[in-house]
Amino acid sequence: MNGEEILKLLEDEKNEAELFRQADLVRKQYVGDEVHLRGLIEFSNICRNNCMYCGIRKDNKKLSRFRIEPDELVKTVQKAVNLGFRTIVMQSGEDMYYTRDKLCRIIAAIKKFDVAVTLSVGERTFADYKAFREVGADRYLMRIETTDKDLYHRLNPKMSWDYRYECLLMLKELGYELGSGIMVGLPGQSLKSIAEDLLFLKRLDVDMAGIGPFIPHQETPLANSCGGSLHLALRTMAIMRLLLPDINIPATTAMESLHPKGRILALQSGANVVMPNITEGEYRRLYQLYPGKICINETPVQCRSCIGLKIMSIGRKIGMGYGSRKKVL
Ligand code: 5AD
Ligand code: FES
Repeated sequence: MNGEEILKLLEDEKNEAELFRQADLVRKQYVGDEVHLRGLIEFSNICRNNCMYCGIRKDNKKLSRFRIEPDELVKTVQKAVNLGFRTIVMQSGEDMYYTRDKLCRIIAAIKKFDVAVTLSVGERTFADYKAFREVGADRYLMRIETTDKDLYHRLNPKMSWDYRYECLLMLKELGYELGSGIMVGLPGQSLKSIAEDLLFLKRLDVDMAGIGPFIPHQETPLANSCGGSLHLALRTMAIMRLLLPDINIPATTAMESLHPKGRILALQSGANVVMPNITEGEYRRLYQLYPGKICINETPVQCRSCIGLKIMSIGRKIGMGYGSRKKVL
């Protein structure tokens, strides 16, 4: 598909059911019926950046900030491993309290549990990425958010799109399985730009692509913007499946935050991964990148069983392996 063909599919609300059906077939053919679970721990909401869309941006002074100390983090992960998770995703704001050494020690401790470790801690240096990889980090998630550089620089003051892209290339070079992705429905983002984003992710040959609707947060400069629609996010995700048939695609939390069946709809329209929250207690409430985030009052045990039931209710099964991308081409 070229940009124009992608654009047509993005615009075509009327026939989206057919697109979803095709994406579901391709998903089944290439990655099968297993849904891979990734246990997500959000371990710090402290961030040096000030992204216009994000609820944990530095200038949100209303938010109380937390950091989970390494010992507690490792204990939480141990419990998640006991619940059966084979992949742990460690996500945080860009919080430099977690130095290279600190993160390396945490990663090494978690690797002892025989799980795949995914990092999602933002932009760091090549030396950091290299050190994390050497102590066993397997995967890295960092969305490019948008490939429209002007829009990116308006939304992410003081950040550089080029450096972010460079980070993605460094991660690839270091042999990480690479996850990236975008938000859809950003203010000033056109469908043509989303089509370009999809082609960018295809060219980069990402191993995982996370696509979610933008949801305006009241304590950000974009409080009064329109958010993205679930359906546009689903169409974008379905097209991603057609473009990169063998990758991992999560049914994103933001989708379910807009609709109680958001993740199920996604799993039936091309997605094959879910990332249940394994963060404990009060911390969940404090990691609201956007309002209405689901699972704020649940425990890791509740999320694990909730999502397990949902997956089985649509005739799918839970993956028992690490759920790495198996390249077909
Ligand atoms: N709405 C939806 N998604 C958001 N993210 C950050 N803020 C928002 C928001 N307001 C997404 C970004 C980021 C990921 C962790 O969460 O894409 O990469
Ligand atoms: Fe958290 Fe359903 S996944 S309550």
